[in-house]
Amino acid sequence: MNQLQGKNVAVIGGGTGIGAGIARELAMAGANVTVGGRRREPLEALSQATASPVKIRTHTIDVADNGSIETFFQDFRANVGDVDILVNSAGINIVKRTMAEMDPDEWDRVLRINATGAYRCMHQVLPSMRDRRDGLVVNISSVAGKRAISLGGVVYCASKFAMTAMGTAVANEVRHEGVRITNVYPGEVNTPILDNRPVPVSQEHKESILQPQDIAGIVLSICLLPPRACVPEIVIKPTTQEWV
Ligand SMILES: NC(=O)c1ccc[n+]([C@@H]2O[C@H](COP(=O)([O-])OP(=O)(O)OC[C@H]3O[C@@H](n4cnc5c(N)ncnc54)[C@H](OP(=O)(O)O)[C@@H]3O)[C@@H](O)[C@H]2O)c1
Repeated sequence: MNQLQGKNVAVIGGGTGIGAGIARELAMAGANVTVGGRRREPLEALSQATASPVKIRTHTIDVADNGSIETFFQDFRANVGDVDILVNSAGINIVKRTMAEMDPDEWDRVLRINATGAYRCMHQVLPSMRDRRDGLVVNISSVAGKRAISLGGVVYCASKFAMTAMGTAVANEVRHEGVRITNVYPGEVNTPILDNRPVPVSQEHKESILQPQDIAGIVLSICLLPPRACVPEIVIKPTTQEWV
């Protein structure tokens, strides 16, 4: 309890799914967590439902909009302080995800949210992390950022490979400045993103795959490591999911 007391955390895409699981876990460990997403309702619902030592703060953000990103982090700096831990969990996929079916405009939209959005959020927090020689960024990539699996589709895989490369390249740049970056590559997790699958996912399957708290537990242990220890990458998948 309270192992993360005094840590300021921003979870982008924190209203639902994996982000919400991580926000809850870190808040229950005593962190001062702010969750961001486009819709206010899920953010508020999470805050209300979590009996954490410090109440979860909420602030809307659209990572496809640079001005919105700036506003979110300006508010954070003014009302909370410097970001100690940033979790990039905002992400989308599209239903028509093969090259044959997808609308080319969706290429821009998915990359803008999944890749550029994560880059821009990182860009907001890194200067103060470097100055203070302390900070952790957790990027929720995907197994689709390691293998171009058909389940993910063309642009989702491209966006997650971008996130993978960005996290690794920036981690190497800042490794002597006290800043750590972890790319997390989950396999299938039972979250609302599954509602956008081309083939509906059965309840039985949802119950058999990873749950948001499985990812959250790993992220908490990464947050609790001493500053000398960094986990650059971690793959976690349902036991039953193929990994080749
Ligand atoms: N579930 C899986 O099987 C799985 C596996 C590997 C990786 N992932 C990754 O995990 C991350 C979280 O996804 P999830 O599975 O937890 O699904 P989710 O519940 O749909 O979470 C995605 C979150 O991102 C937010 N978001 C979407 N577009 C946004 C934007 N433009 N600006 C700000 N926030 C935005 C959504 O809130 P709003 O709609 O309110 O903005 C939502 O809360 C994603 O990056 C996803 O690619 C998921």
